[in-house]
Amino acid sequence: MYIVVCCRNNLDSGGSMFLKVYSITILLLDLLSLIVKVIFAILESIFQTFTGGAEKSVVNEIVLVTGTGHGIGKELAHQYASLGAIVVCWDINQEQNDETVQELRKIGCKAYGYKCDVADRDSVLALALKVKEEVGDVTILVNNAGIMPCHPLLQHNHQEIRKIFDINVLAHFWMLEAFLPSMIQNNRGHVVALSSMAGVMGLRNLVPYCASKYAVRGLMDALNEELREDARQIEVKFTSIFPFIVDTGLCKKPYTRFPFLLNFVPAKKAAKAIITAQRRNYSEVSIPGILLHLNSVLRLLPLKAAQHLKDFIDSGVDSDTT
Ligand SMILES: NC(=O)c1ccc[n+]([C@@H]2O[C@H](COP(=O)([O-])OP(=O)(O)OC[C@H]3O[C@@H](n4cnc5c(N)ncnc54)[C@H](O)[C@@H]3O)[C@@H](O)[C@H]2O)c1
Repeated sequence: MYIVVCCRNNLDSGGSMFLKVYSITILLLDLLSLIVKVIFAILESIFQTFTGGAEKSVVNEIVLVTGTGHGIGKELAHQYASLGAIVVCWDINQEQNDETVQELRKIGCKAYGYKCDVADRDSVLALALKVKEEVGDVTILVNNAGIMPCHPLLQHNHQEIRKIFDINVLAHFWMLEAFLPSMIQNNRGHVVALSSMAGVMGLRNLVPYCASKYAVRGLMDALNEELREDARQIEVKFTSIFPFIVDTGLCKKPYTRFPFLLNFVPAKKAAKAIITAQRRNYSEVSIPGILLHLNSVLRLLPLKAAQHLKDFIDSGVDSDTT
């Protein structure tokens, strides 16, 4: 009896020893593969920084841009169209949107215009069906429409705060609800979202706006992760854009101490940077490009040190009510 128990104990401890060695080996192999992948990703990123990377064609892609009546959206419509894409223009302002569409048609581009308040879920979903019927499946969606009321928090009334969130955040959800399913089904597509440098750092006079742009960033990061981890290996790409100040008039009273570092970018240049980022499958890009890197460095510093640096750079927006 004693001998049998001893043998069983030896077998048990031999088995558990084998299991331990096995799991340590698996862990070491996992670690090795992780190190190789991380080094490869760093090298790939350095290579991309210097070479730029290949740009996907957008010829005959159906590109829907919101907010095409003015500013960055209008420029995006023009540049996508000139690259051979079929452009679908949505804006709440019918007159200005029609103007964009007419300009594109005059130069022989394929463009379709629709009036839509992107904050109105029912309108978005109904119009999406119409676009599918009249144009086809949208393959590139650019959630661009946005508003930027700019004053101290306690001067914002609750209707204004709701409106900022309706247009700048919830509209992205309704547009995704309308267009993401067909992209997933066709296993191709690209979603671009306009966040802002105000979605990366807090800025005075822009509390609700900053909150809305942080939300867009969170939405895009999480959605990107959700699809990346999806077992179906879905080939839908996501690009978040973080402009500082683009010269469209949206930002009423911008100021900058160092224009060579933080200049007000023309809408044409911003649109070009956005399209390049989308065509190169970048997951995020700031305009100017240096700003996201600068922000990463700032984040390494203690808060007070970062605040001193921010005060020294002294750039932002004044209230639109004074
Ligand atoms: N201009 C900047 O300095 C700046 C900086 C950072 C981020 N952004 C972001 O870039 C995007 C575009 O900005 P812009 O400067 O071109 O603005 P813009 O005001 O020049 O143009 C915005 C367009 O969106 C349309 N729009 C507004 N509300 C809408 C709604 N509910 N439904 C449909 N269309 C609507 C407007 O009619 C207008 O044609 C915005 O999301 C903005 O927050 C701009």
